Parts: sequence; structure tokens; C-alpha cells
Amino acid sequence: MSIFKDHIDRMSAYKPPLDGRDPKQHLLLDFNERTLPVGEAVRKALVDFINDGRLQMYPSYGDIVERIAGYARVPAEQVMITNGSDQGIELIFRSACREGDEAIIPGPSFAMYSQCARIENMVIHEPAYSREKGFPLADVMATISEKTRVITIANPNNPSGTLVSREEIITLAKAAPQAVILVDECYFEYASLTVADLVGLYPNIVITRTFSKTWGIPSLRLGYIIAARENIDALLNVRGPYDVNQLAIVAIRAALDNLDSVQEYVEEVMQVSKPLLECFLDKRNVVYWPSGGNFVWAFFANPEVVERGLQEAGILVRPKVDHQGNLGLRITLGNKAQTERLVAELEKCV
Ligand SMILES: Cc1ncc(COP(=O)(O)O)c(C=O)c1O
Repeated sequence: MSIFKDHIDRMSAYKPPLDGRDPKQHLLLDFNERTLPVGEAVRKALVDFINDGRLQMYPSYGDIVERIAGYARVPAEQVMITNGSDQGIELIFRSACREGDEAIIPGPSFAMYSQCARIENMVIHEPAYSREKGFPLADVMATISEKTRVITIANPNNPSGTLVSREEIITLAKAAPQAVILVDECYFEYASLTVADLVGLYPNIVITRTFSKTWGIPSLRLGYIIAARENIDALLNVRGPYDVNQLAIVAIRAALDNLDSVQEYVEEVMQVSKPLLECFLDKRNVVYWPSGGNFVWAFFANPEVVERGLQEAGILVRPKVDHQGNLGLRITLGNKAQTERLVAELEKCV
């Protein structure tokens, strides 16, 4: 037994399978990352910052919140930066929930939500997504009680790629005014679907976003929260003053000055690579979930063989099990050339 709370002792750590990943050896289609390094402007800004001899100073963020708010098209007072969206999610659970409160976490979904709910010793309900019907709205509605404090909606969901409509989110925001409707827009740039314009109208909607996926800097850890001003003010009371590191800010300033490179990448992934992979899967009658993100969750007849075959060809994908225990492979989409290479390898092992 540790010196800490009993229920913390009983938990297990959230450990994604990161060992042995090497972009020089592998095509990394396993973590929904951007598959190309950041552009020259971002690289140069980082190198210049280091060469400038400023690493010994504590971070200071200048007008980065205003810059991000401008990009997100919301007022700056509705935005705060976080150490990745993981920190945003953690701050929301920590600030909203007490022991015994209930969290509704439709699943399967991103592991961080249940991790945070367990840290707060909450009761977790997990209605199931379905490939045919998508988000389990009716089940979530039926699960809401006066103890519900958080309902999580990854939009689109990871690993399923399922999109949730604005109407469904509004229905939940109205049905559970005492609960945070945590809308995780981690893959916002791919899905182009947001409820950022609704946070003033429905103050229980709190959005997390990240610069990890589309923008290519998961290593630097930068995310942001969009919420009503009073919620941002409260969460700022909890976040530390230096939780976001300065290199992340330097990188994102440069990236925001060069939006074209991000937009071009998103376009290629969603309009070229995604149809390419889906066309192959359709041709081979492989079942997959409709996805609004830069990834596809596919159920091959021989998933282990496919995963091993891809691995031998230097391509990593992520096995993820559905509610019935079927093993699917969540495959991140890269650029056209990378997706052609993926499809060529799939041809050999499907
Ligand atoms: C739905 C979802 N939210 C959040 C994250 C974490 O993002 P970050 O790197 O900003 O912590 C991920 C990462 O896979 C994700 O899939």
C-alpha cells in the first residue's frame, strides 16, 4: 500500500504502447499523429529560440491566448492554454467532480476520460457506440441522473471516428445542466465540426482541443480549452502558471503564421488518403466504422496477420477491441504516398 488514497493504489497506470517507435524505421500509423515533420518555419523558430539563449527563463505567454482565440473564432476570455488536451481533460474532471459523482463516458473512447474519472473515484457509466447507429444518445439520456457531473463526447470519437451532431450535443447540454458536457475536439481540423460558438449560450459545454494531432507537435504538449468566461476563470485558478512550456508557444506562433501548411496536409489526408484507404477496404469487403477523423477503425478477418504483416513491412497500426470483443485495427491516415504504400502492403496480407 502506498501513502496515497486507497482507490489510487487500486488503479493501473495509463501506458500507451510507445516503446520502439522510430520514424526513421517505421511509418507511424498507430497514434493518429501527423505523419510528416513540422514545416521549416516552425523548425526555424524553435532553433532560433534555443540559439537565442532563453531556455533558462520561465515561460511567458504574451498574446498567445489572443492568437489562438482568433484562430478558433471565439473571444480571448473564452480560451486558456493547457499542457496538451490531456491536461485540459484532467483539469475539468478535477475541478468539477467529487467522490461518488457519476461520469458518462460512451465507449470505447479515449482512455484519459476514465483515467481521470477513476482518480476522482467516480462511478463510471459506459454506453456503447455502434457502427450503424453512431453515438448512443438515447442510452446516454437514459443514464443521466442528478449525480451526473461529466458527460464526455470525443468529436470525432477515438478509436471509432464517430461524429456527434450539434443537435445531439445541445440535447445533452439541456438535459444535464448540472454536468459538464466535455466535448473533446482533438481532431477538429479534420472533422471541421465544432460547438465553439455555443459555449456562451450553454455554459456547461466545455471544449478541449490540441496542437498534437494536425499540427505535428505532440512532443511539445500544447492544448487549449474553450468555455464560457466564468469557467475559464475558474480553471485558471487550478492550472499552474508555467504548465505550458515555452517551446510549444514558440512553435505554435510560427505555425499560426503559416496556416497554409496545416490546411494543405488536412486536405490531402481527408480528400485523397481517406478515400484511397476506404476504397481498398470496400473492394475487399472489410468492415470499417465511418470516420470523421484522420484514422479508420477496420475489422479484417485476420487482424493479427494483418498487423504482423504491416509491422514486418515497417508500418505500425494500433489494435483496438470493440464492445463485442472483436479486434479492429485503428489505422492513421498519412499523405497520399504513405497511404499508397499502406494499401500496397495491405494487398499482400488481407
Ligand atoms: C480524443 C483524444 N483526445 C485527446 C487526446 C490527447 O491529446 P493531447 O496530446 O493534446 O494530450 C487524444 C490522443 O490520442 C485523443 O485521441
